[in-house]
Amino acid sequence: MITGDSSIPELNPPSRLLLGPGPANINSRVLRAMTAPLLGYLDPDFVRIMDDVAVGLRQVFGTKSFTLPVSGTGSAGMEAGLANLLEPGDTVIVVDAGYFGDRMVEMAERLGATVVRIPVEWGKVVEIGEVRKAFQAQKKVKLLTCVHAETSTGVLQSLTELSRLAKEYGALFMADTVTSLGANKIGFDELGIDFAFSGTQKCIGAPPGLSPCAVSTAALQVISTRKTKPYSWYLDIGLLRKYWEGGERVYHHTAPMSMVYALREALRMVQEEGLEKRWQRHTRNGKALRAGLQALGLKLLVPEAYCLYQLTSVLIPQGIDDLKFRQALLREYNIEAGAGLGKFRSQIWRLGLMGENSTPANVLLLLSALEKLLPQNGYELAPGAGVAAASKVLAQT
Ligand SMILES: Cc1ncc(COP(=O)(O)O)c(C=O)c1O
Repeated sequence: MITGDSSIPELNPPSRLLLGPGPANINSRVLRAMTAPLLGYLDPDFVRIMDDVAVGLRQVFGTKSFTLPVSGTGSAGMEAGLANLLEPGDTVIVVDAGYFGDRMVEMAERLGATVVRIPVEWGKVVEIGEVRKAFQAQKKVKLLTCVHAETSTGVLQSLTELSRLAKEYGALFMADTVTSLGANKIGFDELGIDFAFSGTQKCIGAPPGLSPCAVSTAALQVISTRKTKPYSWYLDIGLLRKYWEGGERVYHHTAPMSMVYALREALRMVQEEGLEKRWQRHTRNGKALRAGLQALGLKLLVPEAYCLYQLTSVLIPQGIDDLKFRQALLREYNIEAGAGLGKFRSQIWRLGLMGENSTPANVLLLLSALEKLLPQNGYELAPGAGVAAASKVLAQT
């Protein structure tokens, strides 16, 4: 049926405040960058833009090594790391402390690797002794991998000792920095990480669609001397490198130009703010939110010692209907809060203050919304206490 009219109505998505686990809202500068004219994938002007992105990524990861944004979301970076560093039969130790640790296990198993899973209670960090035991029990471990910022729980797993242990046992070390990049120091070179991957939609401040990755010289060496080709042609780092690095670029796939423009602008904004200031901003606003939630009598899942300030997990008070409550928040305040994942489904809310959204105004708005909606759902609280406690933290810092 060709009528000249479209049966698809005009696109008109609502403008939400995304205070969940990501995506987060992005700056209008980043949105505008996406409307810039398209270029060919080997146009010299596009190659210059690619180089800018690689430089910006090196800065946020803290590396002089090879960086690129893999086309695809954070899971594509996860798969790229595993598929390039592991060959069938290789042994990988996975520190599995949540939903995304589980995903790594699943991917590594599909690749035919021998997976040694170290289960960690959700909401906790790993006991380093457990990791050492796992290394001691294996003849040869190719890779140790973990999630830096576990978005399903709100835990920040320190990478320092894990990286050291991997080196001690001659293994490569990979970290999932999907939720940490832009909000926490990564220290790729300083810690000796071999592969890190992230997503653009969280603390970097761009839309979803690219997975920034950093690859160490040692990892590149391992990749270039593999006995078998990586199972995935699309995620083959050796092939991608010929497109993203060097004098003569070789076409691999059609880069999503508009996404690359967006990432470039987001990285430019990170540079303008300064990385350390950005980390401090996330910490300050996260601290204020935690103080406000606790002043309302709410229980937080993760102690301050290893919490993520960009993502706070709150236990849902007894008697409150998870879905109904989040729907009210959306309807009355236009705020999206995150639901619990996996075993934390209907147990916790995940409140994100990521990238552009990590602001004092959002902290106060969210707390004020909770102060209004929680009593309507039968939860007693001292009105104004949350906002006051958060304001105090913000005033002090
Ligand atoms: C820690 C972590 N790893 C991996 C992923 C997967 O990323 P994506 O959903 O962008 O594929 C996510 C997504 O939220 C995440 O939080």
